[in-house]
This record gives sequence, structure tokens and C-alpha cells, in this order.
Amino acid sequence: MRFIQHKAEARWFYSVVSKGYDRWINPLFWTAAMRDDALALARLDDRSLDVVDVGAGTGFATEAIVRAVAPAKVTMLDQSPQQLARARRKPALEAVGKLLGDAEALPFATDSRDRYVSTGSVEYWPDPQRAVAEAYRVLRPGGRALLAGPLRRTHPLARRLSDAWMLFPAEDEYASWFARAGFEDIERVHVAPPWWDEGWDPYGIAIAGVKPRAGESPLPVAPPSEDERPVTPARLARFAAGSLAGAAFIPIALWFTLRRRFGR
Ligand SMILES: C[S@@+](CC[C@H](N)C(=O)[O-])C[C@H]1O[C@@H](n2cnc3c(N)ncnc32)[C@H](O)[C@@H]1O
Repeated sequence: MRFIQHKAEARWFYSVVSKGYDRWINPLFWTAAMRDDALALARLDDRSLDVVDVGAGTGFATEAIVRAVAPAKVTMLDQSPQQLARARRKPALEAVGKLLGDAEALPFATDSRDRYVSTGSVEYWPDPQRAVAEAYRVLRPGGRALLAGPLRRTHPLARRLSDAWMLFPAEDEYASWFARAGFEDIERVHVAPPWWDEGWDPYGIAIAGVKPRAGESPLPVAPPSEDERPVTPARLARFAAGSLAGAAFIPIALWFTLRRRFGR
């Protein structure tokens, strides 16, 4: 399952989705209010902080980061050229560094940044534990990492669709990645769009932790995964099925948005 939790598939996915990402995805699934609640855990409390935004995409989170931090001190990293091309069109992000790269093998020196931010990207990473260990490595001692993403669905249909699409981790998995990587003072908050019913299981999470001392993560991690699988018809069919499962969430979210707006 999880047809798009692969680097190549995620690249294919965003070569198309980037066209409508800002218009369709953020307003329904990852709103400005959610982003701001998540970013509060990053403690962007000094304009001179060195910040990396990993899986930064079109720069939706970066736009909020540069309100608190000098744009020239911020670096966006993403593996999708199409997503970064969209970010390049945004005047607020003009002075922000933009790098093509992999969340699981960050092109930054050990102990070189004050803040690590990654929002809505973990669901595509084949080895999230490795990426969290990379977040630890690149931070200076006392630096803070913030990771935000979706949570495992419990409704049977939503669970089936989400598992066919990408990774929806359990809350304990997020906490364990941070603790095992060596982070301390771990904090978390739940986030959800306005159409999400408060009685349902938590929609998404932002989790943050502090790097206590210099150096690499104490957790030994495997080298970053490279996808050597050939592109076969079966693989393309799985990609199409995963994309359709993801697309199914758009009418579902629209339905609940309209229901909330116009009454039940
Ligand atoms: C849902 S978007 C999130 C974009 C942005 N952070 C936001 O808050 O709107 C996910 C992004 O993660 C990127 N991504 C997925 N896997 C990645 C990887 N292994 N390394 C770097 N970026 C990755 C995708 O290209 C995409 O731009």
C-alpha cells in the first residue's frame, strides 16, 4: 500500500499537483490558521535565526516564517522543481534560498542551523526516522525542530484511502521518531481545518523538540534510500491508484465544508 510514499512517485505527483496546490490544497487541508498554530512551536523569536524549511513546496509555510525571520536567513529545500518554481514567483520569498534536495540527506553542515521546519512533507518520506535524525544533525545545540503532518485515520473508508495514498503516521510514531533521534523538551499540538468535526479523531499534528548537544543524532541510521525500481506498468498503475485515492479527499473535504457552511 502507500503508493506515493516514495521519492520518485512524490516527484511525479507534484509535477502535476503543483499547478493547483496553492488554490486547492491549502484552503481545504492545510489552512493559514493550522500553519500558524504549528509554527508557534518552532519559536521563531529572533529575526536573525538561521531557518531551513524542508519539503517547503510552493512556500506556504515559508511565507509565514519570513514574517518572523529575515528572508535571507531562510532556506527552502524541496525535491520537486515544479513546487520550487512556484515559490520563485512569490515576491515575499525573493531573498529566500531555494535548494533542490532530499529531506533524508540534507545538504547542510552538522550544527549549522537554529530552526528546522517541515510541514506536510513527512507523508511522502520512505524513511521518516532518517529525516528526523537529519533534522537533529543540522541543528545547533539548543536549536529546535518542528515537524507537522497528518495523523492515522480511524474511519475505515478514510483509513483505506489514506493508506493507499501515502503515510498517515500514528501520533506515537511522531513522538518516537523525535525521542529516538535524541530530541528533548518535546511538545505537540493537534491541528485541523475548519470543516473537521471536533468529535472526530485528531486530524493532524505539529511536534517540536530541542537538540540538547552538538553533533549527529545518537541514533544510527541507514543511508538514504535510493529508488532503483524500474518504471513498470504495475508501478505506474499503483501511482495512478494512489493519486486517485488522494484526489478522493477533495470532494470529501468540499462536502464537509459545504455541510458546515449551510447546515446539516
Ligand atoms: C504537501 S507539500 C507541503 C509544502 C509546504 N511545506 C506547505 O506547508 O505547504 C509536500 C512537499 O514535500 C515535498 N517532498 C516530498 N518528499 C520529499 C523529500 N524526500 N525531500 C524533499 N521534499 C520532499 C514535495 O515535493 C512537496 O513539495
